[in-house]
Amino acid sequence: MERKKIILDCDPGHDDAVAILLAGGSPALELLGITVVAGNQTLENTQRNARQVVQWLGLQVPVFAGCGQPMVREKMTAGDIHGKTGLDGPAFPPLVCPLEQEHAVAFLVRTLLASEGDITVVTTGPMTNLAMALRLEPRIAEKIQRIVLMGGSCGSGNVSPAAEFNILADPEAAHVCFTAGRPITMVGLDVTRKALCYPAVVERMGRVGNEASRLFVELMGHFCRTQKEVFGWEGGPLHDPVTIAWLLDPTVLTTRPMNVRIDIGGGQSYGRTNCDGFDYLRLPHNADVAVEIDVEKFWDIIEAGLRRYGA
Ligand code: RIB
Ligand code: CA
Repeated sequence: MERKKIILDCDPGHDDAVAILLAGGSPALELLGITVVAGNQTLENTQRNARQVVQWLGLQVPVFAGCGQPMVREKMTAGDIHGKTGLDGPAFPPLVCPLEQEHAVAFLVRTLLASEGDITVVTTGPMTNLAMALRLEPRIAEKIQRIVLMGGSCGSGNVSPAAEFNILADPEAAHVCFTAGRPITMVGLDVTRKALCYPAVVERMGRVGNEASRLFVELMGHFCRTQKEVFGWEGGPLHDPVTIAWLLDPTVLTTRPMNVRIDIGGGQSYGRTNCDGFDYLRLPHNADVAVEIDVEKFWDIIEAGLRRYGA
C-alpha cells in the first residue's frame, strides 16, 4: 500500500495530540514532519508539547517550531481549555526529544518544493505557518496536493458567535490559504462538535491498555473536564483527529463543495468562514466542506489507531 505523505501543522493542544497519535501510528500515512504554531498556547508551550507527545509515543518524526504570532491581529490563546502548559493533565517524563533547528516555514517551503506534488498539508491550529510559507515562496502552492484543516464552521463559532478558534486566531492566514487555489477539505465545528468524547468513550479507549491509550485517557481527563466547565458538555469535542480520520477513511465524513470566504473585515464577524452552501453568490467552489460525520466509525478509527501502538 502506498503511504500518503503528510505534514501535520498543529498547536498542541489536547486534540492536536490525538491527531499526532493517530497520524504517527498509521501505516497508511507517512508523517514527514510536525510543524508547530502558537494557538492553544504560546509557541514555547506548543512546540514543547508536540515533542512530549512524539517522545511518549516513540515516534521518529522531526518537530519544527514555526510562527509565534498571527500575521496581522494580536495573539490569542485557549488556556481555558488546554491549561497553562497547553497540555495539562499527563505527567510527562523529562523531555529529550529534540526540536529541529530549521524554522517550520522553511521546512514547509523546502519539503514542498522538493516534492513531486504528493504532500497533503494538514493544519489543526491557526494557519499562520502555511500562509507564511505560501507568501514566502508562492511556487509551493502547485506542490500542495491538498490542504486538510480543522477549522471554521458553516454555523456558529466557538470563540465568538461567528468564528471558530483556528480561524479567528489568524483570519488573514486562513484567507491566504483559502485563496491559494489548492484543493481544500474543511473539517469544521459542524462535524467535530459531534465527535464528543463521553466517559464511555474514554473507558473504551482505556481498555486498549497500551501506552497510547494511557496517554489518551490522561489527555481526555483534563480536556473533558474543562470542556464541561466552559461549555457544559458531558464529553469534549475531539476536533483535530477528525482530519486524520478522514485521510484514513474518507467515508467517515460527508463533504460538499462550496465557496468559502474568510471575513477579514475586523468587525463582529471577524474570522467567520462564510460557507455558501446554497450557492447564493455563484462563486467558484474552493473547498470541500464536511457536513456530516459517522461518529461510530470515527471512534472505531480512534480505537484502531491506539491499537497500532501494540499491546
Ligand atoms: O476550535 C477548535 C480548534 O481550536 C482545535 O484545533 C483546538 O485544538 C484549537 O486549536
Ligand atoms: Ca488545534
